[in-house]
Amino acid sequence: MAQRSLMVVTGGSSGIGLALARRLRERGTDLLLVARGADRLAAAGRALACDTLVADLASAEGIAALGERLAGVERIPVLVNNAGGPFRRPLLEHDPDEAREAIELLYLAMVRVTAVAWPGLAAARGSIVNVVSVAGTVSTGSAPHYAAAKHAAIAWSRGLHVEAAAVGVHVLTANPGPVATAAFPHDRLRGHRWLRHTVIDDTRCADTILRALERRRAESYHPEWWRAATVAQAIAPGAMARLARRSRAKFG
Ligand SMILES: NC(=O)c1ccc[n+]([C@@H]2O[C@H](COP(=O)([O-])OP(=O)(O)OC[C@H]3O[C@@H](n4cnc5c(N)ncnc54)[C@H](OP(=O)(O)O)[C@@H]3O)[C@@H](O)[C@H]2O)c1
Repeated sequence: MAQRSLMVVTGGSSGIGLALARRLRERGTDLLLVARGADRLAAAGRALACDTLVADLASAEGIAALGERLAGVERIPVLVNNAGGPFRRPLLEHDPDEAREAIELLYLAMVRVTAVAWPGLAAARGSIVNVVSVAGTVSTGSAPHYAAAKHAAIAWSRGLHVEAAAVGVHVLTANPGPVATAAFPHDRLRGHRWLRHTVIDDTRCADTILRALERRRAESYHPEWWRAATVAQAIAPGAMARLARRSRAKFG
């Protein structure tokens, strides 16, 4: 049966995605949450009284299942491309599988999900929020495959912003710094006397993302001062590399 309007949040069962879904649901919109883990997803669906879809978005089957679910939806006012996880294996382990898996989930899943949601997004002249990361422009060696995939995602998202605007679809590239969530607990940062202040919670991250979306910004950082790190990476890569080496020697 055809459904008139549906917002979609990938990775909506936890962390930033769940916090964004909660806020969108408070506005009374119909919502679909997508993730792999059935129990956690069902709990989120019950709490928010919204639809859920169990799908691994890094797989062709998962994308096909989402495409099937969205086929009867006339308008998609908001798509949040947020599903993700950490990829922390050191580069010197030379693990091409981890590199591929990071690209499949953190970059290609965004591309594929956007493709299957596109007819509904275009019909609604809707908005896409791509949850990328400060790691999309800064690479300090702590999660190199993660950073590489996020670099790909940010380049794609910036390009999509320009092309989609031509048909009335707005694209926000949202770049959080450290946010304490299930897959990214940031225990070491949170245990540090000063650095704990760099970690925010998922609700604050979601609220600032939605504020940036309402203002129809092209790109945002959460908190906004992380933008300074991306400028430093661009204009002083040598200094950033020295800083990263020093911090690795100190904190491991
Ligand atoms: N937390 C941070 O410090 C931080 C900073 C910058 C950017 N980010 C980005 O923010 C996004 C959300 O992360 P989070 O911190 O909120 O982590 P989280 O609480 O662990 O949430 C991740 C969500 O993605 C889902 N997911 C993971 N792999 C999936 C797959 N293959 N297919 C479908 N869903 C999948 C998870 O559910 P299942 O595991 O059940 O599938 C979960 O719902 C990620 O893209 C992450 O890279 C996070």
